[in-house]
Amino acid sequence: FLSDFSDSRDVWARDDEAAAAACDLLVRYRETRARSLALAAKLDPEDMVVQAMPDASPTKWHLAHVTWFFETFLLKPNWPDYQEFDPDYGYLFNSYYEALGDRHPRPQRGLLTRPLQAEVLAYREHVDAFMGQLLQSEQAKTLRDLVLLGLAHEEQHQELILMDVLNLFSRSRLKPAYDTQWPQTRAGRRGHFRRLAGGKVEIGAQGGFCFDNELPRHPVWLQPYEISDRLVTNGEWLAFMEDGGYSRPLYWLSDGWALVQAERWQAPLYWENKDGVWHQMTLAGMQQIDLDAPVQHISYYEAAAFADWAEARLPTEAEWEFAANAGVLEQCDDVVWQWTQSAYSPYPGFKPQRGAVGEYNGKFMVGQMTLRGGAAITPLAHTRNSYRNFFHPDKRWVFSGLRLARDVN
Ligand code: AVJ
Ligand code: FE
Repeated sequence: FLSDFSDSRDVWARDDEAAAAACDLLVRYRETRARSLALAAKLDPEDMVVQAMPDASPTKWHLAHVTWFFETFLLKPNWPDYQEFDPDYGYLFNSYYEALGDRHPRPQRGLLTRPLQAEVLAYREHVDAFMGQLLQSEQAKTLRDLVLLGLAHEEQHQELILMDVLNLFSRSRLKPAYDTQWPQTRAGRRGHFRRLAGGKVEIGAQGGFCFDNELPRHPVWLQPYEISDRLVTNGEWLAFMEDGGYSRPLYWLSDGWALVQAERWQAPLYWENKDGVWHQMTLAGMQQIDLDAPVQHISYYEAAAFADWAEARLPTEAEWEFAANAGVLEQCDDVVWQWTQSAYSPYPGFKPQRGAVGEYNGKFMVGQMTLRGGAAITPLAHTRNSYRNFFHPDKRWVFSGLRLARDVN
């Protein structure tokens, strides 16, 4: 089944003509759905069943869950002719929606040898056929925002598939490549601080599709600040390591230092020292560290410790967004997500929707930190300057890095 898609070399590529046509919801739906299969086509069935850790999910589960999303939020409430594919799939592929009832325990997603991959693919085709009817009907107009949410959701899971596969493959002695041709992060010069006056600025989404957590747009007061135009590099990170970054508590938040000791962190996730040479597990397999490429796979704690060591700090998300809008940032959304020092909290006036779909973002607004930008594995045009990604501060399997900021005295 999946080999039909394996020729799509650059799965994010989209020419201008296709982009224009993509205004049409049905075309966009088909493109997005096909891209998930193209990503899975580079894997073998065994790769798609295993769950590397509780935070990660098997590819087969991702492929089914994004389908369940369309079934649950679009078809069941709005398409009376919809015939349910399998009444147990709601239990199996509901991720976290309490309003929709009990579900399969998250840490046990890797036990699902059944349904078979072929059955999950048949489920996708079943839902795609009904979605095709819905999207060609009059109703499509009124459901536009929900369809766009379903597509943005599938794009988030496309990124999760790659994060989770890398984590899975990193645990094998064979260090398999997901794709030997997967592009390596482009290197470049180090960052320079750019000064911004700040003052009263506006942040938040400004029209077009966005997630609810990007709203309402609102004013924020910024003190004058400096922010680096580029990301912190592996070379800079190595200097931190060689200066005792992971062995001196003074740079670390208390919770971070506890983790450094408990987990014996000595380098970013996926780094391995072979005969004195640092390597890193990537989607293209084990690669020698490129000193001029941005560091990736670090936790918030590591990012904050590095910033302290560098006599700087992480930007707030408002500082990041204002600088991005002002056009002073390079490596904004095409290398790694960037940790900010902002807690993932509701914007003033934030109101999640009523019902299950309101659980999408709002209920996670405690104990996590906001990341801004986008990563090389993020689907093209998925993010915006107002986009708020979020993870717990100890997570490292994210394609996460940092850019520095500092106060102006
Ligand atoms: C925004 C990446 C933290 O992984 O749970 C997927 C994305 N939301 N399905 C997550 C998401 C619903 C979300 N992150
Ligand atoms: Fe999801």
